Amino acid sequence: MIALSLAEIAEVVGGQTHDIPDPSVQVTGPVVRDSREVEPGTLFAAFVGERVDGHDFAEKVVEAGAVAVLASRPVGVPAIVVADVQTALGALARHVVRRLGATLVALTGSAGKTSTKDLIAQVLRRKAPTVFTPGSLNNEIGLPLTALSATEETRFLVLEMGARGIGHIRYLADLTPPRIGLVLNVGTAHIGEFGGREQIAQAKGELVESLPQDGAAILNADDPLVRAMASRTKAKVILFGESGEADVRAENVRLTDSGQPSFRLHTPSGCSDVTMRLYGEHHVSNALAAAAVAHELGMSAEEIATALSEAGSLSRWRMEVTERPDGVTVVNDAYNANPESMRAALRALAAMGEASRAKGGRTWAVLGKMAELGDEALAEHDAVGRLAVRLNVSKLVAVGGREASWLQLGAYNEGSWGEESVHVSDAQAAVDLLRSELRPGDVVLVKASRSVGLESVAEALLAGGTEGEVAAR
Ligand SMILES: Nc1ncnc2c1ncn2[C@@H]1O[C@H](COP(=O)(O)OP(=O)(O)OP(=O)(O)O)[C@@H](O)[C@H]1O
Ligand SMILES: [Mg+2]
Repeated sequence: MIALSLAEIAEVVGGQTHDIPDPSVQVTGPVVRDSREVEPGTLFAAFVGERVDGHDFAEKVVEAGAVAVLASRPVGVPAIVVADVQTALGALARHVVRRLGATLVALTGSAGKTSTKDLIAQVLRRKAPTVFTPGSLNNEIGLPLTALSATEETRFLVLEMGARGIGHIRYLADLTPPRIGLVLNVGTAHIGEFGGREQIAQAKGELVESLPQDGAAILNADDPLVRAMASRTKAKVILFGESGEADVRAENVRLTDSGQPSFRLHTPSGCSDVTMRLYGEHHVSNALAAAAVAHELGMSAEEIATALSEAGSLSRWRMEVTERPDGVTVVNDAYNANPESMRAALRALAAMGEASRAKGGRTWAVLGKMAELGDEALAEHDAVGRLAVRLNVSKLVAVGGREASWLQLGAYNEGSWGEESVHVSDAQAAVDLLRSELRPGDVVLVKASRSVGLESVAEALLAGGTEGEVAAR
């Protein structure tokens, strides 16, 4: 964080100082909520969680070097006491980003926020010091913590913003007002909670409503609900996508034999070729979004294309491709799943299978439920099961309860009988089946919603090992 005295912080957050002998002492380190991350100069934010109360760690964190605790009650060590720690954290973040010399870039969307944020960061950091959301910490606590980790040197601050309802993005954009706002797509993630796609578009569009006149709204030209957000902003609009009207677009898009996208990048300032290290066609859209941000920030098409071609995966379990010594390839995309990302992952699997098919290899889709789909759950699982068959995936293994049976039924009704699609009750059963069936050249995709925890299947397949090690969840 930029250095601030405890007195100044107390004033910004409207808090009372307790047990602070010298209020001019400065916080110079990061603001953290996890006692294990404390380092000298830290401000420790004490949250009351379901199982752990941060206030119980007050003494320990001060011993470890924390300057003070941001707390909701006095704790016997230096503390700034506030009515609500989350609100105080937000106020501090708002104050700090105003003082930073950094350009704020915020992004939201139904799928691909973390993947795209990681791409943007890997492109922008070639130009200047960049701070970005670690992992997927995109909520009302993760966002201010990330913003507070910026320093005087930071030139670009890239923030992922998540929403589970109307008003969430407005709240986040008010804490850390972006100059560049990017909306990736409006899909069906959390549709059950939102109530429908229109509501999701309403919520995501709050990002571009928050932009200033001299800002830039970067919108997906290929997604009609996102494209329509152009009317909701004062800022300049930059479109990205495969559509001909996009300012930043891709031509000659194809997947290599290994499932990595390659395309010619067009920006208003030039063209250049990209071949990505990431897997799956869905990354074309993510890459174009990142390119549009970088273009707006003055990077050339060549610089952007080089950075996109070299960018790796910074966050785990997203199309993580590993080839085992015996020639079986495991694609771990178990971080999360919704209908759009299921389709993208299945298409990548099919492309990867093309090359191995010639050598007798097969493609396996080990899929579990997509959560939070509300009334659309049955139809969406059915559609994914059918798509697996249409893409000629060799074997579908549907894992889990009712939703898995819908996946399998979809495949069955699309013409996948007999052993081509099976339904197993849990992760261990899937591992047992795969262990006995897999052979060199096979490609296995593992994917489901976060709550299913299907990464245990990928990990068991990669660990080799014996039966019984998949933890029950
Ligand atoms: N543009 C895209 N379209 C569809 N699916 C995508 C896209 N980009 C990534 N995915 C897939 O969606 C899943 C989630 O990706 P990612 O973590 O990047 O998204 P997110 O929006 O950050 O998710 P969350 O809401 O959980 O934070 C992954 O399985 C990934 O492969
Ligand atoms: Mg995310």
